[in-house]
Amino acid sequence: MAETARLQAGDQIVELPVVVGSEGEKALDIAKLRAETGYIALDPGYGNTGSCQSDITFIDGDAGILRYRGYAIEDLAEYSRFIEVAYLLIWGELPNAEQLDEFSALLTKHQMLREELKQHFSLFPPNSPPMAVLSSVLNALSCYYPELLEIQDEETFTEAAARIMSKVRTIAAYSHRQQLGHHIEYPHPRKRYAENFLHMMFSQPYNEFDADPALVDALDLIFLLHADHEQNCSTSTVRMVGSSEANLFASVAAGVSALWGPLHGGANVAVVNMLETIRAENVSVGDYVAQVKDKKAGIRLMGFGHRVYKNFDPRAKIIKKSCEKVLAKLHINDPLLDIAKELEAVALEDEYFIQRKLYPNVDFYSGVILRALGIPKEMFTVIFAIGRMPGWIAHWYEESKATKISRPRQIYTGSVQRTYQPLAERP
Ligand code: ACO
Repeated sequence: MAETARLQAGDQIVELPVVVGSEGEKALDIAKLRAETGYIALDPGYGNTGSCQSDITFIDGDAGILRYRGYAIEDLAEYSRFIEVAYLLIWGELPNAEQLDEFSALLTKHQMLREELKQHFSLFPPNSPPMAVLSSVLNALSCYYPELLEIQDEETFTEAAARIMSKVRTIAAYSHRQQLGHHIEYPHPRKRYAENFLHMMFSQPYNEFDADPALVDALDLIFLLHADHEQNCSTSTVRMVGSSEANLFASVAAGVSALWGPLHGGANVAVVNMLETIRAENVSVGDYVAQVKDKKAGIRLMGFGHRVYKNFDPRAKIIKKSCEKVLAKLHINDPLLDIAKELEAVALEDEYFIQRKLYPNVDFYSGVILRALGIPKEMFTVIFAIGRMPGWIAHWYEESKATKISRPRQIYTGSVQRTYQPLAERP
């Protein structure tokens, strides 16, 4: 017999169906709770709310496990490249060689931006935040592909997904060039995904950027490790927007906006800012950690803690190794890496962090690698957005099969009904 749970609400007892996931996770299905009892579930921040059932990504935050479509992140990071993983997330299976070639060819075909669209970049003021430019231009793509606004079949979805996956790196690189007031560098027809992005970021007409393969691999790995993370703030935003049947371009543009905040994707910038401050002000790591614990200063140890992981974020372990490898290969001695390692060591031994199960997250070391790649700080969160694109696309598509618009309820705590006072009579 299917498992149920009994809940007493007021003087009523209701049987709630138990939903069991493929990894044994359990949820109480409260969809009929209000209709049957008048009560709703209240969970600000959604820390204990499942918003959907999903086949895409599995996380066990207590055990530090992350799997995309059933494959361990450690295996994907070791043996696959970002584009292969994007295919896996979007279509559910790892591609064979032929499927991967077809997908890569489709990405190459769609990497250019329409010339009129290019004009948008010159209309933003100098030094516009690249996340604002990215979100706006992704949304503007809706104006150029009216035939892709309604996804009727898998073919149109594939076209829309490939266009976004490919163009996002072109838009991102252009947003950087725009900031600098530099010319726009077209994508290269033969360079692969991450290398092409670096080319568009850094090549000059007089000097084609020749990226060290170690840098290209490190960037590809960063994209791959960020590719999905189930119902985080930006992915939930994409699903929420998509649930109104808004098109894919508009939905991922909303995802970029949600990712921007320092408590989410913006944390990779916040980590480097924190490390730079510690260095510039010559604060000892011990004193900094004491300020964080004191809470009066209102500062957090950025890159530490996670809503879901109450153990090491498996991505942080992989990124830390990659960071050490890249810096050693390029003979870079970055004092910020030393500070980061010392902070990690001190925090992991400290009762405050142990008790609250605060461990380094993916952002703790990613900024240090991005610095080594020569990526400016204001582009860090944009890099995260490029990496997260296949996850957003996969979740949008999954959500498009659902039949209900997402619409949470609330408990109203404002004034009860008041008598209206005309303007002239108000005190
Ligand atoms: N530094 C110091 N204390 C912290 C930190 C931190 N980084 N994170 C959580 N805490 C403390 C809180 O002050 C709170 O303490 P209390 O119980 O004494 O009040 C306790 O740990 C629980 O914190 P919450 O804010 O309730 O945890 P929540 O799950 O809501 O927050 C979050 C998760 C936002 C990631 C938080 O840990 C944080 O702000 N971290 C720093 C920012 C960061 O690195 N964000 C990136 C997340 S990963 C990503 O988005 C890709």
